[in-house]
Amino acid sequence: MSKSDPPGGSASSDAAPSLSADAVLGAINPPARKRLLVALCFPLFVLVLAPYWWWATAIERLPLPAARIAALEAASTPEITTRILFTADAGAFPTPPEGRANFPLRTKLQVLGEEVTKGVDGILAQQRPAERGARRWELVYDGDAALRVHIALDGAANTSFPLEPYVSTLAADSVPSGALVIPVHPSQVSDLNLKRHYKIALINGIHNLLPAHLPGVPVRALAYRPNITLSFVLLNEDAADGSYVSGWDVEQALRDHFLPQITPLAPVFNFSIESQVLYHAPLTFEPDAAEAGPGWRINDEQLKVFVSERWSLDSGSTNNPVLRFLVFVPSAAHRPLHLAAASDAFLIPQFGSVVLLNPPEDGAKAYHLTLDALDGPFDQFVEHFYGLLSIPARPAQVHAAPESRGRAIASPLSPWQLDTVLRTRLAENTAEAKKTLASMVRLIAKIEEMQVGAGVRDKILGAVSKLEGLPATARAASPRAAFVLSRDAVALANEAFFDPSMMGLLYFVRHAPSPPHVASL
Ligand SMILES: *[C@@H]1O[C@H](CO)[C@@H](O)[C@H](O)[C@H]1NC(C)=O
Ligand SMILES: *[C@@H]1O[C@H](CO)[C@@H](O)[C@H](O)[C@H]1NC(C)=O
Ligand SMILES: *[C@@H]1O[C@H](CO)[C@@H](O)[C@H](O)[C@H]1NC(C)=O
Repeated sequence: MSKSDPPGGSASSDAAPSLSADAVLGAINPPARKRLLVALCFPLFVLVLAPYWWWATAIERLPLPAARIAALEAASTPEITTRILFTADAGAFPTPPEGRANFPLRTKLQVLGEEVTKGVDGILAQQRPAERGARRWELVYDGDAALRVHIALDGAANTSFPLEPYVSTLAADSVPSGALVIPVHPSQVSDLNLKRHYKIALINGIHNLLPAHLPGVPVRALAYRPNITLSFVLLNEDAADGSYVSGWDVEQALRDHFLPQITPLAPVFNFSIESQVLYHAPLTFEPDAAEAGPGWRINDEQLKVFVSERWSLDSGSTNNPVLRFLVFVPSAAHRPLHLAAASDAFLIPQFGSVVLLNPPEDGAKAYHLTLDALDGPFDQFVEHFYGLLSIPARPAQVHAAPESRGRAIASPLSPWQLDTVLRTRLAENTAEAKKTLASMVRLIAKIEEMQVGAGVRDKILGAVSKLEGLPATARAASPRAAFVLSRDAVALANEAFFDPSMMGLLYFVRHAPSPPHVASL
């Protein structure tokens, strides 16, 4: 038997591959030296590329002005003084008797103005320190001022005291529209107590129009956003059910009622306006039959679900917050429809205003709402518009302007109201911007994976420097300049906060899967 003779048939298949495997391996594998080189290549590769990898994936975290933000947080909003120009008609003060010095008008106004200022400071001093607030205005006697107070000699004025201050709605020779006017009848000028009456009227007017305490932004009002859409909708409950309203003079109504309100607000809000008529806006409930007399009543519970989600109120063409003003025309089957409350209008917080309008029962099929018919609802809308945007209404101590008594149209928004709106929104925006900046600093410090790129850092720096500019606007006595800084600061802070580079991670942090719950059986 040869050595190579396989012991059995199966053995040959064992031995032959073991020999040829070595040969195959030798053929495939490179020589040992070459293998070592290849093996070394990997660590080398890693060594060379690691810095690049690190550079490419390292988290960019630019430093933030944390100390400046902390200083802003600690600082209070600067107190800005509004200048009020104080003027009077030449005949508003009595001429002194022969031989007594007649001081120039300006001197008389200055003496009176100082007494008024002292009077208001006296009223404030009587209040408890915590509630006192600070006087936010000063009287000046020449130069430019956003606000104006004027003593007007007026033959049409009430001849009996007390004097009745009002905010003018028409520009006259000596007084611009929006001035606080103290009307005095020529027969009153010789009154011995005239100066005291002036002082009372001025204190009453100025102190109530510009109270020391700012109203906050109430819950029913929109938080500040620069762009707001006003949507006016005429809703027919069911046009197919007998008579309905087919059209309205909405453009004229807007021109008469809303333009005088929104035009002066241009420094604060950009309004866009849309309107539409709906022919089928059914109620989701059946109103109660009225207890006394014919018709239907909507109770307080039904009021809460009055506006149905199925009405297509919004055009959906805007990302702005929308305030809706709805004129609701009940179907023929539900007329007359009234609220259980005294008026037929209600405000829905942060949403809008609703007015019920029952057409006259004269059997007509289709109605067109003229300006006459719309004056009532739109006057109501303006009142609710004030509520929804936190605009102060005319205080009771200030009378209605004589020229406005007549058609039911609210007085145009006056510079006095704008001053309060600017300050209210300044306070709101400043607080919001500081809060956002401070929470970003805390968040970024806490989450080490969070990036701070140049884009985010620059927005934060921008917001900080706007806020740091506020004290200078106080020195310039400009609530308007201060408001603009606060508006831009909050916009920049929000842009930084909602920057995609930060948001991605925030989303991850907020939505990281929580540890699975151990089911307890
Ligand atoms: C004039 O003032 C008196 C007293 O305040 C008041 O009763 C009266 O109604 C006023 N007259 C006019 C026309 O406003
Ligand atoms: C407001 O509208 C203007 C255009 O009128 C637009 O440039 C701006 O981005 C809008 N701002 C917001 C916060 O929507
Ligand atoms: C309104 O928009 C214009 C231009 O789109 C802008 O210049 C202005 O500052 C805006 N006003 C407010 C209050 O945001």
